[in-house]
Amino acid sequence: MFLPVKNAGAKGPRPAHSGFSESDWGILASFWHPVALSSEVTDKPWGTTLLDVPVVLYRTPEGVSAARDVCPHRSARLSLGTVRDGRLVCGFHGFEYAADGACTRIPALAADTPIPRKLCLQAYLCQERYGLVWVCLSKVPRAGLPEWPHIEDGSGIVAVVPPGTWNASAARHIENFTDLCHVPFIHTSTFGGPEVVIEPYEVQVDGMKLAFEAPVVERVRYVGEDTGYAQPQLNHAIYRYETILPFSTSVKVHHPEKGTTYRVFDVGSPVTASTTRIFQIVVDEGRTVPAEALIDFTERINGEDLSQVVAQSPQALPLDLRDEIHIPADRMSVEYRRALAALGLGADMAR
Ligand SMILES: [Fe+2]
Repeated sequence: MFLPVKNAGAKGPRPAHSGFSESDWGILASFWHPVALSSEVTDKPWGTTLLDVPVVLYRTPEGVSAARDVCPHRSARLSLGTVRDGRLVCGFHGFEYAADGACTRIPALAADTPIPRKLCLQAYLCQERYGLVWVCLSKVPRAGLPEWPHIEDGSGIVAVVPPGTWNASAARHIENFTDLCHVPFIHTSTFGGPEVVIEPYEVQVDGMKLAFEAPVVERVRYVGEDTGYAQPQLNHAIYRYETILPFSTSVKVHHPEKGTTYRVFDVGSPVTASTTRIFQIVVDEGRTVPAEALIDFTERINGEDLSQVVAQSPQALPLDLRDEIHIPADRMSVEYRRALAALGLGADMAR
């Protein structure tokens, strides 16, 4: 019911209840993560969570701003407030804050009384790109955003998929997204083809990027006059995956026979250690399928993955390679785990 009498200074940037270890939290907080669609952030404050931290986003003529979703006065949720004249206004007592976090007005305080200096929001780095709002909880980002020019250069129909929230860790989601083995078994109503042996492949590791390419026999993704496929049939494709640490992946699906290319860009945003908001953008360079159909198909694929991934136990991704058994087709998974460990993740025993 009460916090301790001597509690001042106990608060660090990582919430006390966080399911991330202190070390893992600090590393993940130093990366950019998407936290909302641009369309979700208006001049009405919008609350979300990143790495267990409550975050409020709001839009002014200067762009989108982000701050800890807690008013330092009485710990009210600022996302319950409003935006007025470019200032974030707490709905509880009317305190107003500028984008840099400084309190600029307290209605109940006499005009000639100075505003306490400590009354300052924790503002976060924030930027918009690819139709998403990205936040970094650290003052110094360790890396930039993924460079995905195909979303922006007009090379195809672009579809932003409504984000879904999975009760799974972001790392388990990324492994699922880059896993070839599961496709014939899970994606039986979408693009899964026949059971096939997956030949060994190499993973190129270059700094924060892991990439591999493999042939895949998939079922034709769309059937209809527009695509030239009247009936479901098998299609030979080349998949090229590029994962950018910690949780961003793009897959290029190329069909050599038709000369068409289809891309999916995927980011798992770590809401908590076991909850992930999935942001996906599809680019169809064939321009044969309307955006609504691209979204519908992607959501059906996600639905097929969901039941398996949320049931994986433990939800945390094992970074000790001895904890799960690997086959040659899991090369990407093995290299991903090694790369996460090389970042320093999973280094401390205390959870
Ligand atoms: Fe899948």
